[in-house]
Amino acid sequence: MTTYEPRIDGGVSDDERAWWKEAVVYQIYPRSFADSNGDGFGDLPGLINRLDYVSSLGADVIWLNPVYDSPQRDNGYDISDYQAIHDEYGTMADWEDLLSEIHAHDMKLVMDLVVNHTSIDHEWFQKSRQGDPEYEDYYIWREGDGDGPPNNWQSFFGGSAWTYDEEREAYYLHLYDTSQPDLNWENEAVRQDVFDTIEWWLEKGIDGFRMDVINLLSKADGLPDGDPDSEWVGSEHFIDGPRMEEYLEAMDEQVLSNYDVMTVGEMPQLGVDEAKSYTGTDGPLDMAFHFQHTKLDYAENQRWAIGEWDLQELKEITDRWQNGLAEEGWNAIYWENHDQPRVVSRYGDPVNYRRESAKLLGTFSLTLSGTPYIYQGQELGMTNSPWTSIADMRDIDAINHAKALLETDDYDEYTDIQDTISYRSRDNARTPMQWSPSENAGFTEGEPWIQLNPNYDTVNVGDAEDDPDSVLNYYRRLLDLRDSHDVLVYGDYCDLLPNHESVYTYTRTLDTNEGTERLLVVLNFFGDETTVEVPVEFETATLLLSNYDRDDDDPTTVTLAPYEARVYDLG
Ligand code: NOJ
Repeated sequence: MTTYEPRIDGGVSDDERAWWKEAVVYQIYPRSFADSNGDGFGDLPGLINRLDYVSSLGADVIWLNPVYDSPQRDNGYDISDYQAIHDEYGTMADWEDLLSEIHAHDMKLVMDLVVNHTSIDHEWFQKSRQGDPEYEDYYIWREGDGDGPPNNWQSFFGGSAWTYDEEREAYYLHLYDTSQPDLNWENEAVRQDVFDTIEWWLEKGIDGFRMDVINLLSKADGLPDGDPDSEWVGSEHFIDGPRMEEYLEAMDEQVLSNYDVMTVGEMPQLGVDEAKSYTGTDGPLDMAFHFQHTKLDYAENQRWAIGEWDLQELKEITDRWQNGLAEEGWNAIYWENHDQPRVVSRYGDPVNYRRESAKLLGTFSLTLSGTPYIYQGQELGMTNSPWTSIADMRDIDAINHAKALLETDDYDEYTDIQDTISYRSRDNARTPMQWSPSENAGFTEGEPWIQLNPNYDTVNVGDAEDDPDSVLNYYRRLLDLRDSHDVLVYGDYCDLLPNHESVYTYTRTLDTNEGTERLLVVLNFFGDETTVEVPVEFETATLLLSNYDRDDDDPTTVTLAPYEARVYDLG
């Protein structure tokens, strides 16, 4: 067990301090990070070779997407063996090297925990479908309702959440793909097996878990039909279900609390009140990912429809979470992950102001209260790719959706739906990491499992390293700033102009034994120059960071260039 050395003096009580609050997390999607053996698929030895890079960013923790054995129908979120490494990634010995190398680089490793469902290839499911008495209740099996499935619940990836299994002659529930059956958490033996698995990994020395769709574990008694008009039909009966807290508290009590690890729950449809109870003082988790800010560009609340996004709404959401968890609970701050399109292509301008907007969006993430997560390539300002045919896509979700649309009478061919599919596909996040302008961006010497973003000749690590003004080097400055300013970790947040249409400006304030630390952040979220009066009082002000070349220290009346970001120290 590591002992925690508090790094600041005063202002924050021992109870409030934690290493995971002071950390910046870098997320690695291993199949697209670095390939060492030319099979076109990223692997653990490739990742080990790139740890110097990750550490040079100033990251403290790596969150690694699933590397467990899996048929890879949902890229590893369909696990067939929780205690083995998928062979395309390498061996358990490679994984052990990875862990010790990460620790040697003074970083920590957080693994993905996917226990709402397994793969149909998992031994538990195989035995369950055969009716093996020990495993028959490991999954959620039901008779159909007449000729149809037991209820109207939908899979997140489209279609019914039930599949009929010929062998068992019953339906099984899968809230994701048909190859991802939901575990039956009502069964105590399932819970115990999962807790044992968690302990097994913790004993190997990992530093925490990112918990996949963890607020879906408990399903309502009787599995009633859901509101047919809701965004995800049935979700009121399987999100934050009746036994959720009991399950997570047991997990915490029996295993997690015996280790000094961090836990972050991925929680669809999470609201502030639930987040408080999951992550507050007595809550079982340290922090949780919510999705509210990732839906700003939905039209009419539909994921597969693109709408104009609105800064006011981003402010309302951010204020709600920053203020809502100020006293109790902790935020997980992110723009991107392996499920989200690239943020510059959503809330920035990938064509005219790629660099500036990437830096602006990074400044926002790294100056809020909560633990920041950076997804691989975000620090380069990577953008969405042009997906010109379904054959180029690999994301089961986007492919299912595209096929379903083409089966309707509304669309004839892919070009009719290309704008939406190519904007929203999770493949945008999954194109290979762009290491250099050379062939395949230095990701692989073979045929990559998914096509590269064609802009790798200009957007890549090699060129960014050589350019002091690159997005990469700006991110390094942001991480330095966070590391050297306790106020960015523990300070209070205050939105100064909640109604301004294009500028977002806020302060972070912390009282310490040496006095009050206060930083001011001023962000122009759009592509027009704008002048803003910032309503803030101060004695001295110093400009600490900007994504433009500036030397003006006065933050009272500021003229901001397109996508300009500034951070001031208010003395
Ligand atoms: C959320 C994961 O982030 C996503 O990639 C996956 O498809 C689903 N959960 C199902 O595990």
